[in-house]
Amino acid sequence: MQELTIRRPDDWHLHLRDGDMLESVLPHTSRHFARAIVMPNLVPPVATTADARAYRQRIEKALPEGDSFTPIMTLYLTEDTQAEDVVSGFQGGTISAVKLYPAGATTNSHNGVRDIEAVYPVLERMAEAGVPLCVHGEVTDSEIDIFDREAVFIERVLHPIRQHIPGLRIIMEHITTSDGIDYVESSPEGIAGTITTHHLIINRNAILVGGIKPHYYCLPIAKRESHRLALRRAATSGKKRFFLGTDSAPHLDTDKESACGCAGVFSSINTLSCLAHVFEEEDALDRLEAFVSLNGPGFYGLPVNEETIRLVRRQQPVDYPERIETASGPVTVFDPMFPLYWDVA
Ligand code: DOR
Ligand code: ZN
Repeated sequence: MQELTIRRPDDWHLHLRDGDMLESVLPHTSRHFARAIVMPNLVPPVATTADARAYRQRIEKALPEGDSFTPIMTLYLTEDTQAEDVVSGFQGGTISAVKLYPAGATTNSHNGVRDIEAVYPVLERMAEAGVPLCVHGEVTDSEIDIFDREAVFIERVLHPIRQHIPGLRIIMEHITTSDGIDYVESSPEGIAGTITTHHLIINRNAILVGGIKPHYYCLPIAKRESHRLALRRAATSGKKRFFLGTDSAPHLDTDKESACGCAGVFSSINTLSCLAHVFEEEDALDRLEAFVSLNGPGFYGLPVNEETIRLVRRQQPVDYPERIETASGPVTVFDPMFPLYWDVA
């Protein structure tokens, strides 16, 4: 196949940041994607409906002329979150989901949840009102090995939430393990999983072999090869409960190339080229549209996009920048370590 036309895709997990960084990264998403679920882990976090409304306005202001892109706003769940604010923000159309960060799990998560049962009353109200919960699925206990944190989260946190509040719709974001895939597949309706572009391409060797490669460090951290293969099978299966969330998460190179480097891979520029490559390798190009354009809106109960994009397989590798410039310095772009031939026409 040399050409593929699909409905315009959406990104169901994206970090747009704020200020200069927002200005620099937003065009790389709005060029190709119609909508994105925007993560609320700013400093301070997007914790109330009023914060989300103000943040949405800043995003709309930063949009390049002529791009039609809709940011889908989320609230950052804290132990002080008011259920009334969540429900009214959802019913009024300002927010579409709430994000659970276990405190300390990742970038700007220190205001997250320490005691999950403390937020059960809010989760119960969300279930009644139909507000979905997006989950960063890693425990933070110091005795749990970083490579096991997702599997332990499923057992200790996610499964108990689902037992206790079966009506809550949950998105297990950026699944990195076969345990996560198996959990979503074996659960009845009401839970879905997003998968990032980079976790379909790299395993943990990319970070650790031949020297430390900070630009492949993200959270949840990439796991061993068998997990990557499980993610590929799920993403390319066409199954309705798996869809794209790039987790494109820009950090300045100076913050990544450091003795304590930040977690995050910036992939919005070449994500669609990378995904077409992966789906072609898996002989599943006919299922790319399900993963990037159909399954996400299906789970969130939103209409699919009517516009289309055309992907073209070039003769020469696609030219994309190694890094982008921002007012505060460069940000390195995800390097899949192979040439990309699929391009968005
Ligand atoms: O690698 C990551 N970066 N994982 C996250 O969960 C957060 C993100 C960020 O905000 O930088
Ligand atoms: Zn993220």
